[in-house]
Amino acid sequence: ERTQVVIVGAGPAGMLLSHLLAADGVESVVVETRSEAYVAARIRAGILEQSSVDLLTEVGLGDRLAREADRHRGIYLQWPEERHHLDFVDLVGRAVYVYGQTEVQRDLIDARRAAGQVVHYEVSDTALHDIESERPSVTFTDAEGRPRQVVADAIVGCDGSFGPSRAAIPARESWERTYPYSWFGILADVAPSTDELIYAWHPDGFALHSMRSEKVSRFYLQVPNGTDPATWSDDQIWDALAARLGHGQNGWSLQPGPITDRSVLPMRSHVSTPMRHGRLFLAGDAAHIVPPTGAKGLNLAVADVALLAPALTALLAGDSRLADGYSETALRRVWRCTHFSWWMTTMLHTAEDPFDAQLQLSQLRWVTSSRHAAAGLAENYAGLPIGF
Ligand code: DHB
Repeated sequence: ERTQVVIVGAGPAGMLLSHLLAADGVESVVVETRSEAYVAARIRAGILEQSSVDLLTEVGLGDRLAREADRHRGIYLQWPEERHHLDFVDLVGRAVYVYGQTEVQRDLIDARRAAGQVVHYEVSDTALHDIESERPSVTFTDAEGRPRQVVADAIVGCDGSFGPSRAAIPARESWERTYPYSWFGILADVAPSTDELIYAWHPDGFALHSMRSEKVSRFYLQVPNGTDPATWSDDQIWDALAARLGHGQNGWSLQPGPITDRSVLPMRSHVSTPMRHGRLFLAGDAAHIVPPTGAKGLNLAVADVALLAPALTALLAGDSRLADGYSETALRRVWRCTHFSWWMTTMLHTAEDPFDAQLQLSQLRWVTSSRHAAAGLAENYAGLPIGF
């Protein structure tokens, strides 16, 4: 089998890339180890930056988004007895949108299916070959157990941090930070108790009130690493959320409801460079992981493929300049988001050392009282322009 670009991984990075390439007349084949149902159902982040929404809209993926996404002007930051609103629109002229990754993924799957995109789901033994040549290839065993080979002009690894693509890049350099806490995430069938997200610093640990729709709320609690979600009763979860989010303070109350999903996610920062070797390019989680605070992961993947699609199109037409600059250009934004995610994480999660707690509270008072400090948070949260 022959195509122009083999994309390893059918998550949002891979599927959006195949969509962008198709719009430029470049053909791709996507391979994915999981099933379509698994990829479509996995619950991830829920916030899109203005620039991600603009891109999805420009490339014809914005119809349902325009109807269903909830535009938020900003966020609330709080600590015991105090809640402050940051208005990003007022501060930096950019908003954020509540639209789950599951919804983005569904729109992508529908659009690619309508266009006849070839996606091989449930493949195994994926291996990358000859990435330093102009005819790299990917071999795999398809869902029916048949060995297959796809030869292409370029390969893009959108296969996350455990996929084979990153490991295929020789002479990698990587940077990593693990955090001494995890997020316990729940979905609940209850209307959000807030109009915009609440990020709460609390001595018991961080809590976040997010949402997915008018009827579905999403919450996160800081928990120790290794926490088993089954060991928390529903009442314990709601009690912890109520305490940390300030139920009863200034007339605010948290409305509990049936919990429909629960999971614990570890938190890690990781950047692997370069993002390109020969004819292999990396995008999204294959190249970098951010902790979830600030919801940058999906937006960063969108920004990577927005850079990569024109670079690949030009490369296949004989102009390698954008492809040669891809890794360096993409990494500028990657490091900005890596810093911002680390900063939000370390500002909000309760640490062991009481000195750290005082610094966190001072920082929170500053970003909620100084317009300059608030604008810095807003600029990063609402998203820097794609070309940053
Ligand atoms: C969500 C996740 C985040 O990491 C965040 O900062 C905001 C919202 C979410 O899943 O809804």
